[in-house]
Amino acid sequence: MSIDVTRLHPLFFARLDGVDLANVDAAAFDAIEDAFAQHRVLHFPAQKLTQEQHVAFSRRLGPLEVVTMGASIDGGRSTLPEINRVSNLTLDNKIRAADDLRRKYSKGNQLWHTDSTYQHIPSKCSLLYAHKVPSKGGNTEFADMQTAYDDLPEAMKRRIDGLLVEHSIFTSRAKIGFSDFSAESRAAHPAVQQVLVRVHPVTGRRSLYLASHASHIIGWPQDEGRALLAELIEHATQPKYVHSHKWTAGDLVMWDNRHTMHRAMPFESLDEERDLHRTTVQDIGNTVELLQKKVA
Ligand SMILES: [Fe+2]
Repeated sequence: MSIDVTRLHPLFFARLDGVDLANVDAAAFDAIEDAFAQHRVLHFPAQKLTQEQHVAFSRRLGPLEVVTMGASIDGGRSTLPEINRVSNLTLDNKIRAADDLRRKYSKGNQLWHTDSTYQHIPSKCSLLYAHKVPSKGGNTEFADMQTAYDDLPEAMKRRIDGLLVEHSIFTSRAKIGFSDFSAESRAAHPAVQQVLVRVHPVTGRRSLYLASHASHIIGWPQDEGRALLAELIEHATQPKYVHSHKWTAGDLVMWDNRHTMHRAMPFESLDEERDLHRTTVQDIGNTVELLQKKVA
């Protein structure tokens, strides 16, 4: 398998041609891991994957999350428990109505975020595979959090060094006016803490670790912490750090949740189908606990 790597943004995001994700040998897998460490978001065009093949490749990158949060809102899970269906279709493949509950819940994906920072063990990476895409809209935008960190003034780097942040799925959903969760669902997703600055395990580069799920800074007055988080997100999502991906059916895009943010762009058509499947690979531990182990 001969792999061609083409950088599509000056800072990150590469397209890998010549890869069949249903048949990746050890050498190709190593090449993909190298490219992933370097570019942080990889686009594999023209894939033909069954759900089982999508899951099998994802599992080589680490243990997979089982869909819980989205599944509690009317059928977010696909036929396999590891596949989160990012779709405007119902389970029997009918287009959801404009006022559909799951459509409303999914609007939270239009806020800048990284996946699963609200879980105690967050996500290493996500792999989103496009089955059906609309003719217009519905791009996914990615932001490079490593360069955004590098470009911060030294005083700001010192100010945020060692800070911990509280994350909750209910923080991001409240931002879109969605608070219709059962007591059981709230109890199942308690707030967690994550570090604000991460270090890449392969390259050693630092990055901001932000998300719409980030609520406030531990030990700071809440308003002050929220203002700093908003300032950092605004800084990190300036156009120079952002690449917008236009989907074609057959695309699989794999992004590093530790060192990028992303958001879904609006897709307003009510009569075109959009059906993507996501697997989510877990990180190796809670970011605060990993930091403490290194310090100890
Ligand atoms: Fe996401």
